[in-house]
Amino acid sequence: MSVLSGKKVLIGITAGIAAYKTASLVRLFIKKGAEVQVIMTPASKDFITPLTLSTLSKNPVHSTFFNKEDENELWNNHVDLGLWADLMLIAPATANTLSKMVQGTSDNLLLATYLSAKCPVYFAPAMDLDMYQHPSTKNSLASLKAYGNKLIPATSGELASGLVGEGRMAEPEDIVNFIEKDVLSKLPLRGKKVLLTAGPTYEAIDPVRFIGNHSSGKMGFELAKAFANLGAEIFLVAGPSNEQVSNSFIHRIDVTTAEEMYTACHEYFKKVDIAILAAAVADYRPKQVANQKIKKKESVLQIELEPTRDILASLGKIKEQQFLVGFALETNDEIANAIGKLQRKNLDLIVLNSLQDKGAGFAGATNKITLIDKNLNKIPFQLKSKADVAIDIINEILNQLNA
Ligand code: CTP
Repeated sequence: MSVLSGKKVLIGITAGIAAYKTASLVRLFIKKGAEVQVIMTPASKDFITPLTLSTLSKNPVHSTFFNKEDENELWNNHVDLGLWADLMLIAPATANTLSKMVQGTSDNLLLATYLSAKCPVYFAPAMDLDMYQHPSTKNSLASLKAYGNKLIPATSGELASGLVGEGRMAEPEDIVNFIEKDVLSKLPLRGKKVLLTAGPTYEAIDPVRFIGNHSSGKMGFELAKAFANLGAEIFLVAGPSNEQVSNSFIHRIDVTTAEEMYTACHEYFKKVDIAILAAAVADYRPKQVANQKIKKKESVLQIELEPTRDILASLGKIKEQQFLVGFALETNDEIANAIGKLQRKNLDLIVLNSLQDKGAGFAGATNKITLIDKNLNKIPFQLKSKADVAIDIINEILNQLNA
């Protein structure tokens, strides 16, 4: 999955011949999973139709502050558009638009939106070679860069005039790659590696039966997604779970038993910076696994259980630089039990869920947690979606790491 997935991209199109390439540009952003809205300057409609761009972007195209012909038409709010965007791209950016952007002229919707936008703004100039070399254009590029806007430089090649030289708008693929790389480079956890466990484990009784639990895996998967959004590389060791994830930053390692989870965790633990063990691992497994289905009998069936290895405790013993986080699901004496686990397993942080809290626990979509750190500071949180809980946990880890 691209870092552009889910991003709100506002594409501003000005009146250059390269505007015809913006159809591909819109398509590429959509293929990356971005949401796209297009603003066109009135003159750019001579180069590509709004219908093409609205069809490809799956959104109406904006061009004027309001439509004079349609009295029911709403005013196009440039402030809303500017605030909506996670990033704005002006492509092609003509010499005329560049100079107006420098001056702060806002005589069309695109320019007014540019002035209102709080997000990163990228611009891809396109013009004839002499215009591109003109000192006034060079001044515009320098000023816009000084304002914090990001130049996607024009390339060399044959121009619409027939002349050959610098001034061609960068190709749509290159524009998207440029932005993707730039977004990636700014992610705060870029280069960090995280080990996560999620879901239940299944311990076989015979070929068709197992001992398991109701853990959905959602909390661990939400943590994986939230870490990935911040640029970290995730090793997600998952027990049987219906949760799905598709993100190139997340490596999913599927396991079934506690022993398989133990082996996988030890394989990755050495190279990670942070490890969070959110799985509901079986504490016991059948001592003998029948190799044929156990038949029903009148008498009581006894299955002898033996303890599984405690993965979290084993990692606590060998941890070096890793920040180690565990979960504790408790029904009584919650704080004391959680502190006991934190200390016994040599953790940096423990996430406590109390089954006395409605909406907390490992089966549902919400959770209510208290975080306890090694200095025994306790930070309680409200009932939240597991996606929001994941963000709270990550924020606290980052606070502690930066402290
Ligand atoms: N855990 C683990 N390996 C196990 C059992 C638990 O890694 N075999 C981890 C869980 O992923 C969780 C933490 O340990 O992060 C707490 O698990 P829990 O079962 O609640 O703790 P226990 O120490 O087993 O205590 P108890 O069952 O008595 O509450």
